[in-house]
Amino acid sequence: MTLSSFLSVILAFAFIATFANASNYYKDFDITWGDGRAKILNNGELLTLSLDKSSGSGFQSKNEYLFGKIDMQLKLVPGNSAGTVTAYYLSSQGATHDEIDFEFLGNLSGQPYTLHTNVFTQGKGNREQQFHLWFDPTKDFHTYSVVWNPRHVIFMVDGIPIRDFVNHEANGVAFPKNQPMRIYSSLWNADDWATRGGLIKTDWTQAPFVASYRNFNADACVWSSGKSSCSNSKSSNMPWFNQQLDSSSQKRLKWVQKNYMIYNYCTDVKRFPQGLPTECSLP
Ligand SMILES: *[C@@H]1O[C@H](CO)[C@@H](O)[C@H](O)[C@H]1NC(C)=O
Repeated sequence: MTLSSFLSVILAFAFIATFANASNYYKDFDITWGDGRAKILNNGELLTLSLDKSSGSGFQSKNEYLFGKIDMQLKLVPGNSAGTVTAYYLSSQGATHDEIDFEFLGNLSGQPYTLHTNVFTQGKGNREQQFHLWFDPTKDFHTYSVVWNPRHVIFMVDGIPIRDFVNHEANGVAFPKNQPMRIYSSLWNADDWATRGGLIKTDWTQAPFVASYRNFNADACVWSSGKSSCSNSKSSNMPWFNQQLDSSSQKRLKWVQKNYMIYNYCTDVKRFPQGLPTECSLP
């Protein structure tokens, strides 16, 4: 083999490896509702959800996961998105399900989206934290990640932690660690509550509303027929498996909480007259 043909073989392999790594929405997701309003485009590189007066739309992952670092890039409904909600979450099934939620509540043009987060364990949620973002989430794609391991559920935006739900099982707080979860996303109308508590209604003259997704990546353990198989056989090759917030990440989390957090269930004493949930008083 000549050097140049050898090099082209190497290049071909590099190309195949890159291509195989690229996210493909056909491969990883099923469109579950919306009657054609959800679309997979560009050979599987892009997915769009749309909402109009008669319906929203949604998709879910083919795989179930039990722990992982899951990244998704989203570009939210631009312009007047008041009344619309884009939900992006992980959830298991059943009455005692676990769930890790991102929900993006739209707003009037020029007014900030609200990023609503929640964690359900054993069917129980009521752990809302809400944020504004430090950028306009409709102008570009941004990365929303969940690092889910046996000790932490870390919510991140563009690599910046915004929330860390810590395993406090030792203090009787359930933690999501036994139930595999699927990834779900949907775009729907929630103008009875979403924007300024329901005061601002969806402006249907702006429909269809469209949210876009790309660059999905799951460095995760896939659950199948009662067995978990991870992206790597050694947890030392899966940094997320032992990930926790180091001091610089903690600083960034504090920055977000101080400047962008608009609601925290842990400070809502009126809502919990019997006392705040246990985890609120733990480090
Ligand atoms: C919409 O904008 C208003 C005014 O800036 C803000 O108070 C509110 O948090 C924003 N988000 C939602 C979902 O209402």
